[in-house]
Formats: sequence, structure tokens, C-alpha cells
Amino acid sequence: MPTRRSFLSLGAMTAAGIVTVPDATSAQAIDALKQMKPPAKPVIVTRVTGDNTIQDAYKMLLDGADTLSAAHHVCLGRENDPTDHSVGIGGLPNEEGVVELDSCCMHGPTRSAGSVGGVQNIKNVCLVARKVFEHTSHVMLVGKGAERFAVDLGFPSENLLTEDARKVWMLWKEGNSQMDWWGPGITGPQWKDPYGDRPAPKPTMDLHGPTSQLRPGTIPRHPTPDWAEFIRARALTLARMADDLDIPAANRQFAVEQILWPSTGTIHVSAINPKGEISGATTTSGLAWKIPGRLGDSPVIGAGCYTDQDIGSAGATGSGEENIKVAGAHTIVELMRQGLTPHDAGMETLRRIVRNHNGDMTRIRLLDMEYYILRKDGAYAGCSLWSTSPTGKPRAFAVHDGTYRVEKCAYLFEGSSIAWPPF
Ligand code: GLY
Repeated sequence: MPTRRSFLSLGAMTAAGIVTVPDATSAQAIDALKQMKPPAKPVIVTRVTGDNTIQDAYKMLLDGADTLSAAHHVCLGRENDPTDHSVGIGGLPNEEGVVELDSCCMHGPTRSAGSVGGVQNIKNVCLVARKVFEHTSHVMLVGKGAERFAVDLGFPSENLLTEDARKVWMLWKEGNSQMDWWGPGITGPQWKDPYGDRPAPKPTMDLHGPTSQLRPGTIPRHPTPDWAEFIRARALTLARMADDLDIPAANRQFAVEQILWPSTGTIHVSAINPKGEISGATTTSGLAWKIPGRLGDSPVIGAGCYTDQDIGSAGATGSGEENIKVAGAHTIVELMRQGLTPHDAGMETLRRIVRNHNGDMTRIRLLDMEYYILRKDGAYAGCSLWSTSPTGKPRAFAVHDGTYRVEKCAYLFEGSSIAWPPF
């Protein structure tokens, strides 16, 4: 038990009754943070959305809008788009065909946080997460309670499973019924490399060395030489089944990809204005075909999103389970507090994921992770575990700091992840 004396020795009590607590951060890092000025113009860092909401949100910030409202404007564009199968209406469902949404946010200026998880029938969960801190003394609501809360506040209740998403789910049920999320995960003691590709390839980098010396590692792209042939045959079978299920030709490739590489598609947005007010928001339909009730990192404050008004904001898309284990967004913000740049903080957090698996690439190649990072002076980074998606697209993020652009992510490994669960 700490004594009264030890409590007092932690800090000094002022006349106003406010305790000052010594900072564990190095004096040098504190000085550097103090000297940082907010950016001259607003900055937004986010996933590439393919719509105009980032540009609109930027105009909102120029007109003086709240940074969380601007971040949510970008999230809402995706939540309201039935053709975006990673979030909101049209999101891919759980294994029972029910869409369950997760979201969290942090509002820097008021140092508030709100979160909802496993919400059915309400598409704008990003706004519901904000309502949690605006209308309750709680931070997190889940499941039926979160849904009732949203309905009580006037959010419309609707079926979130679109016809397109239902057909992709049917394709998963029929095409992959032996290959679901049941069974031990990659950290389970019984886990065996499903591809039988031992001994494990090791990454060609020092996972414990200084981040500044980090160079992209390389690993064998495919676990076995006939991998590409196997994927091609599997994709052709699934495409035929998609045809039988009346999945329109334009959606067939997407549907097949979602069975081969179930998505953890998510959107994170961090935004800052010239007053230095910073906020972050993350929203998702979570892992496609998940076990009902599964929550990933997106509703977890500190994993899917973390914002500290004094330091910056970060958020994640990708393998939620891995990100929870390194408290990714919080770790990044804390590393920036210690003086790391947004890039170095993101890369170091990715390396912690790799270290959690002792650098065993037979496991790591089953994972994806991307971080979106914004420091309080407007410096930013996008960092990814892999250089490309499984379909070969470079991992990229969107930034607006007066000019809208898409930039390639910094990455730890060349190539892409492979399928999990295995076929
Ligand atoms: N990153 C989203 C999820 O894992 O649910």
C-alpha cells in the first residue's frame, strides 16, 4: 500500500488542489514536444476511400469544424455506401450472415473517448460511439445494449445485409464450409503450419535493432512452389460457384477475393486543425465471416484508435487480434511521446507484432496490419506490415494537408500476406 507520504512524493500539490506528477518521458523528448507547433493548415490522414469525403472534410476543417466531426464525415461516407463491404451498410457479415459493426473515437480537445462493438442494425456506428461519451458516463457499449442505446437516441434501425453482401456470404458458406475461424489461432499451442512449410523462413532483418536502421525484409512470397497454381484453381472453382449464385459478373472477382482473403477492411481517420486540436475515429464491419460476438481492434481504445491531444493520433486497419496484443495505436502515440517520428513509431509497433511470433514467418505471413499516424505538428506516416495487398496493389494511405494525395505506405516486408484460415 502506498503511504500518504509516497503519494505526496510523486508530485506537488498546488493551492488549487491540482497534483503535478513527474513525467517519465526524457527531458529531451519533453523539450522537443514543447517546441512543436501545430501545423499551419489542417491535416487529415486516412485509408484511401475512393470518394470525395476527404476533400469535403478538409473544407469543413478550413471552415472551423470540430476535428472529430471532420473525421466522422469521412467515416460516414463509407458507412453509408452499400458497395463498401468493409464498413456500415453492406459490410460483410459474421458466419451466421448477420452484420456486426464496431467503432471507436477519441476527441482530443475534450480528452473524451467512446466506443461501440458488435452492433447490429445500425449503420452509423461511428456517430453512436461519439454519443457514448456525449450522453453517458461510459466509454464502451456492446451488442444489444449498444443497439438499444442507438435506437433510443433516434438512430434508424435497418437490415445492414445487402443483397450483394448476402450472396458473397453464401459463396463463403458453400465454397469454404470446412474453412472457417474455428480451431486454434496462430498463437495456440496446437497450431501447426497449415502449409507444412517448415522450417520457418526467418525475416532478413534485425527485429531488435534500432528502428532507424530498419530495412524492408524479404521472405519467400509463396509457401510452396505450386501455390500460385493452387490459388488459380481455387479461384476458378469459386468463380463458377459465384455464377451459380447469381453474383453479377462485375462483383465476382471481389466475391472470390473475399473468400480467398477474408477482409478486415476498416477505416481510420485522424485529423488536426491549426489550433492543434486533434481527433481520431475508426469504424468497421470487422473480420468477414467472424464468429458472432467477435470484436477486433476497431472498438478497442488504444488498439484501433488512440489520440492524445499533447502528442498525436494513430489508428489501424488489418488483423485486429494482433493489433490488440500490441495495443497498436496507443503504442505508436507513446513512442512518439518518447521522441520517435511517426514513421519510426509505426515501424517499431509493427516489429512488436513480428516479435510476438518470434519472427516466425509461417505465422506472420498470415497477418496484415496498416497504421495511420498523425503527430501534433502535422507530421504523418502510413506504415504497413507488407508492401502490397494479396492482390498485388501497393499498400497506400490518403493524406490531405492542403493538397489531397495518395502515398505508398512504408513497409516491413516485401510482398503480401497469404490466406488465413487456410484452405
Ligand atoms: N481491424 C478490424 C478487425 O480486425 O476487426
